Amino acid sequence: MAEFESNVSPRTIAVTAGRPLGEGDPLNEPIVLASNFRAGPEYARTHGTRTWAALEEAIGLLEGGRGLTSSSGMAVASAIVFALRPEIVVLPSVSYLGVRALLGDLSARQDLQTREVAIQNTLEVVAALDRASHEAKSGSDGVVLWVETPTNPTLDIADLARLCREATSRGIRVVVDSTFATPIGAQPLRDGATVVMHSGTKFIGGHSDLLIGAAVTTDDAVYEALARARVVQGATPGALEAFLALRGLRTLPLRYEASARSAEQLAALLTSHPHIESVRQAGPMLSFVVRGGAEAADRVCASTTVIVPATSLGGVESTMERRQKYPGDAHVAPGLIRMSVGIEAIDDLWNDLQCALASIGSR
Ligand SMILES: Cc1ncc(COP(=O)(O)O)c(C=O)c1O
Repeated sequence: MAEFESNVSPRTIAVTAGRPLGEGDPLNEPIVLASNFRAGPEYARTHGTRTWAALEEAIGLLEGGRGLTSSSGMAVASAIVFALRPEIVVLPSVSYLGVRALLGDLSARQDLQTREVAIQNTLEVVAALDRASHEAKSGSDGVVLWVETPTNPTLDIADLARLCREATSRGIRVVVDSTFATPIGAQPLRDGATVVMHSGTKFIGGHSDLLIGAAVTTDDAVYEALARARVVQGATPGALEAFLALRGLRTLPLRYEASARSAEQLAALLTSHPHIESVRQAGPMLSFVVRGGAEAADRVCASTTVIVPATSLGGVESTMERRQKYPGDAHVAPGLIRMSVGIEAIDDLWNDLQCALASIGSR
């Protein structure tokens, strides 16, 4: 495994981590398609492969911990719950609907309880942690704070450093879904989080052509529990997906910076647009509310030519979607559009948005 000084830039780590170092080796680990290996106990699901290990090394180095990949972001979320076995999970009320569905299903089966909070309201979260610690049979050991920041789809921002301090001083474990922040926008382990997770399907992969997930932790016992979860749940990454995710990760810092710059400019332009009620921006993500509700927002999404109407995000191409149409996001504003800003030219994106917004009045 490559060693890095603490002052090495994430850009350099993204490009150099996870490379084979032997003389004559290829510059990147090849796609190891084997499940079985000669003359040993090795088996891909239980021991991993060099293709996975290269990606895990790179994500681990960027986040400052030990990385483990899985078949999807949801597989990682499931593995984390399996590994940490919380009695009560305190989570954002507006956050990724898949994770809320997972925790909701487990709660309906009485495997755990959930407490929903406004994650941007630190005092409310801390009060919920204190109540949960009193209510859990095993006290604060039974409580997990599940942070998503920025949240999907409203881009609420948690005070991560403060929340980690408050939680860890009470002995409460903290999970951070950092999918929107990416390892470039935040390194939650450095704030004291127990484990950070990513849907690598999004910005890490960066090309909308794979499903993968990753967890990173500095806690060896948590790492072992997550590794065990992958063995027994069997949610292993595909060989091609792991290879492509590392290939995507190599350009993550550049893509993130370019997209975030464009998103900031678009946010400023949208703010003064007459058809826009409100705008939020966090990194490469935008969340804006169109005047005229669901119908107007649907028209905008159907009228773009450069920006792709699509449900996923984090690719080189800009995508957008009205979110309130999903039952899991029924509580967000009807006209809210979540946009993932890609790396197209900013002028083309703005022209596209302006034309699409003009379609609202032209019925
Ligand atoms: C914040 C967040 N976490 C987790 C996931 C789940 O990831 P996957 O689709 O890779 O399972 C998503 C997917 O949209 C997401 O946006």
